[in-house]
Amino acid sequence: MTAHPSVRGDVAVLVPAAGMGVRLGPGAPKALRLLRGEPLLMHAVRRVAAAPSVGCIVVAAPADAVDDVAAMLRPLSSPAVRLLVVAGGASRQASVAAALAAVPEEFGIVLVHDAARALTPPELVETVADAVRGGHGAVIPVLAVVDTIKQVDNSGVVVGTVDRSVLRAVQTPQGFRRDVLTSAHAAAVDEHTDDAGMAEKLGIPVHTVPGSEAAMKITRPFDLAVAELLF
Ligand code: C5P
Repeated sequence: MTAHPSVRGDVAVLVPAAGMGVRLGPGAPKALRLLRGEPLLMHAVRRVAAAPSVGCIVVAAPADAVDDVAAMLRPLSSPAVRLLVVAGGASRQASVAAALAAVPEEFGIVLVHDAARALTPPELVETVADAVRGGHGAVIPVLAVVDTIKQVDNSGVVVGTVDRSVLRAVQTPQGFRRDVLTSAHAAAVDEHTDDAGMAEKLGIPVHTVPGSEAAMKITRPFDLAVAELLF
């Protein structure tokens, strides 16, 4: 018998939550800002924990807040979902690497999910996990780009218009076979804004699945206001 005879609980989710979130204005680290009276991180972890595939969540917290974050999240842990909190690093990439190092060895599928995407529905977690389980080494949720996108030079003058039909806005959770994510992080020399970017550098095909408007990234005060309305 394997450790996970069914698909339930065979996925570990890393939640980098150690960023300061300066674009949101001064105050607490972004993941600890309140949305309807509760930190963004609580919202994000609660939704991830509600996905039946998830058996373990590893949060990378600000180094000086590991104990406080662990105490805050404790009510969300259960016999079905193990919750671990580690100290994050100086960059998102370093925080993901720290969380990845803490994943118990029985988990062969690892998702990476930004705490800032606090309202991501559990169904999206399942969609990404299913695609990895179905044989894709790297999977990202994407949305079509609705704005016209232009490339500009250093003085702000338009250089050209990009064909938006071939563009996609990328969300999280991004899903990986564990060995793919481990190799991608081990090989990365420069900073990437997402984990799939590191897999791309290794030549690993990255599969896309439909994203969700609700998985919007809460980055600026306007996003927080929109999230309050969506809630
Ligand atoms: O800065 P950005 O908005 O891209 O951050 C995306 C996610 O990465 C956030 O959830 C943030 O908390 C996390 N992060 C981190 N460690 C850092 C910087 C960002 O865990 N040093």
